[in-house]
Amino acid sequence: MGDRGSLDGSHKWRLAWRGAADKLDRSHMTQSSKVLKVALFGLGRAGRFHLQSIQLLPEMELVHVVDIDPEQARKVGEQFQSAHSETIQPALEDPSIQAVIIATPTGEHFEQIMAALKAGKSVFTEKPLGNNLDEIATCYAAARQAGKALFVGFNRRFDPSFADLARQVQTGVIGTPQLLRVTSRDSPLPSMDYIRTSHGIFHDCIVHDFDMLRYITGQDPVEVYAIGSNFVDGIRALRDLDNVLVSLKYASGLLASIDVNRFASYGYDQRIEAFGKEGMLQAENRSPRATALSNASGILRPVIEHSFPTRYREAYLEELRVFAAGELEGRPLPIGEEDVRISHTLCDKAEQSYREGRPIPITSTNGREHD
Ligand SMILES: NC(=O)c1ccc[n+]([C@@H]2O[C@H](COP(=O)([O-])OP(=O)(O)OC[C@H]3O[C@@H](n4cnc5c(N)ncnc54)[C@H](O)[C@@H]3O)[C@@H](O)[C@H]2O)c1
Repeated sequence: MGDRGSLDGSHKWRLAWRGAADKLDRSHMTQSSKVLKVALFGLGRAGRFHLQSIQLLPEMELVHVVDIDPEQARKVGEQFQSAHSETIQPALEDPSIQAVIIATPTGEHFEQIMAALKAGKSVFTEKPLGNNLDEIATCYAAARQAGKALFVGFNRRFDPSFADLARQVQTGVIGTPQLLRVTSRDSPLPSMDYIRTSHGIFHDCIVHDFDMLRYITGQDPVEVYAIGSNFVDGIRALRDLDNVLVSLKYASGLLASIDVNRFASYGYDQRIEAFGKEGMLQAENRSPRATALSNASGILRPVIEHSFPTRYREAYLEELRVFAAGELEGRPLPIGEEDVRISHTLCDKAEQSYREGRPIPITSTNGREHD
């Protein structure tokens, strides 16, 4: 997989980005320089970008890493000078660890969240949080009971371009929003092992886009309609989709579309467009290099970012910074139970729409269908 090698390059990445990180807003740093001691569960693709972020956050200290693959756990533990284990239990039993970051496969999240909360640790978890609405409710109830934080990493909210687009929509720059278009095309094609345990394209990928629409507009749709197909043999064999179009209707008259594909040959294609009477906002793709060649044949621009670790590196850093600020300074966390419940509900309803070939009405607060 394209990103598998990124850990080996992490020292290089750290050097390259240390300078950039130093320029980030440091006003959040506490005067008492408090540090959040964390354990990281899962050292695959997501684990790697969290390792990179932790290295850049002086307010976070990696005390323990866990991976079911003992060699992986040992290697990363040694590299990052932290304790390591194949199971989460030793980390949960360490009283110095205040919080855990869960980046294991989706099917592991619920059990690990519950175990961590029970052990008195705050939790940052990769999306999606649970397998169903009951599990989501159970996790948040457990967090409330334990008096601990539970934060789901909807990283795209923290992307500087998307956050800027959302801010401008909210301040009325384009007038009342009439149409939103979200394009999310993955790169590289994930492994079929990953797809098999991903919980399907709606809960694995489109959950991000539903969250972004809610974040940008502050509105919930009244109807969702999804169509989909598959072009990748392995994905078809898993009875999953790799090419999906979702349309949404809102009570305000706003319309939205989300188009998602598991593989774009030209890089990680992530764009959002918002249209209103007063204008249009576009958050475009970006490239690692900004040089463009203009000649008699036309204009040649470099390829866009290859994949999520580089495209969203600032967002991954910022989401952990916000989580740490919540823990160390008691700042409110911007993503809560309602966000998670509603994005999950929209995934369920979009999946249902695809299966049944019809638009599904939605109520904004509880996700139940109208009769
Ligand atoms: N927010 C994002 O942009 C983003 C991107 C990629 C993945 N993710 C999410 O991150 C999660 C992990 O995805 P990934 O792509 O890193 O998968 P991955 O397969 O690359 O990595 C998962 C790792 O977890 C380990 N593991 C498996 N079971 C475990 C267990 N019980 N305890 C400890 N370790 C265990 C595996 O050995 C592997 O190293 C998924 O839930 C996915 O949805 C989020």
